[in-house]
Amino acid sequence: MTVLEGIQKSAEFLAKKDIDSPRLQAELLLAHVLKLPRMKLYLNFERALTETETDMFRELVKRRSQREPLQHITGSTSFCGLEIAVNRHVLVPRPETELLAEAGWSFLSTINSELSTALDFGTGSGCIAIALAAKTAAAKITAVDISPEALGIAKQNASKNNVIERIEFIQGDGFKALDSHRRDARATISFDLIISNPPYIPTAEIATLDAEVRDYDPRGALDGGADGLDFYRRLASEARPFLKPSGKIMLEFGDGQGDAIREIFTSQNWIVEAIRNDYTQRQRILIARL
Ligand SMILES: C[S@@+](CC[C@H](N)C(=O)[O-])C[C@H]1O[C@@H](n2cnc3c(N)ncnc32)[C@H](O)[C@@H]1O
Repeated sequence: MTVLEGIQKSAEFLAKKDIDSPRLQAELLLAHVLKLPRMKLYLNFERALTETETDMFRELVKRRSQREPLQHITGSTSFCGLEIAVNRHVLVPRPETELLAEAGWSFLSTINSELSTALDFGTGSGCIAIALAAKTAAAKITAVDISPEALGIAKQNASKNNVIERIEFIQGDGFKALDSHRRDARATISFDLIISNPPYIPTAEIATLDAEVRDYDPRGALDGGADGLDFYRRLASEARPFLKPSGKIMLEFGDGQGDAIREIFTSQNWIVEAIRNDYTQRQRILIARL
């Protein structure tokens, strides 16, 4: 079987199994097997696949047909141009979160001080913290997550992207973890930026999500409580002592949650500066200050 035949057959198979963008998925899987950039496949359409390559490719296509996310099969994804390893313990970083990270580093780069500081609340794979550190040479980032396994991956990603010395990782439950860390270090901790993509799916909706998300993203990364807004209430009421007076909070939220989140923050005396849209023109990011 040639490269082109392999792509065509696999794309047909994935299409029958109702997988979105079947041709693209087949190409990305084969590129992974052949350790080539996807575009290079086009120069190799007539190349014959070896038996080992064919077997490996078949196996990966089968896994994808059973709804395992492409990023779990290949083991990584790209976020703001950085390679981020993922597995079952972390949410696969989404393209819309790149906009949040970009808003974060744009703000940090306006800060007139030798060292700017940011807290990434619920760091998961570490994607936001790592992007902030990579794009802002003088930023020191604190990354918190309740999941020790997620923090393990985040540390590996920080190391691979050469920013581990500028990110402090803390395991525990949000601001409570920071509080005990602060007591142990006998230090005040306050940030120029608090940034988060918290869990925001209403509990009952999790069962209705695509299998790729429902069965593979960790539940603790999805579940935002009965109405999906538990973490925004916590952030609005608990973040204040951790933010510098001139600091900002930037949060991603889910479809249709913008008005409720604005209300949560204004009722706790935050000034909502902006609600920004994502690539599909849906409201996605809240920016607020004290
Ligand atoms: C939606 S994921 C976001 C991951 C990553 N920041 C991203 O944008 O791809 C939310 C993360 O929050 C973490 N989390 C959930 N509850 C938490 C808590 N109480 N304290 C700290 N982290 C928490 C989860 O483990 C998960 O990694």
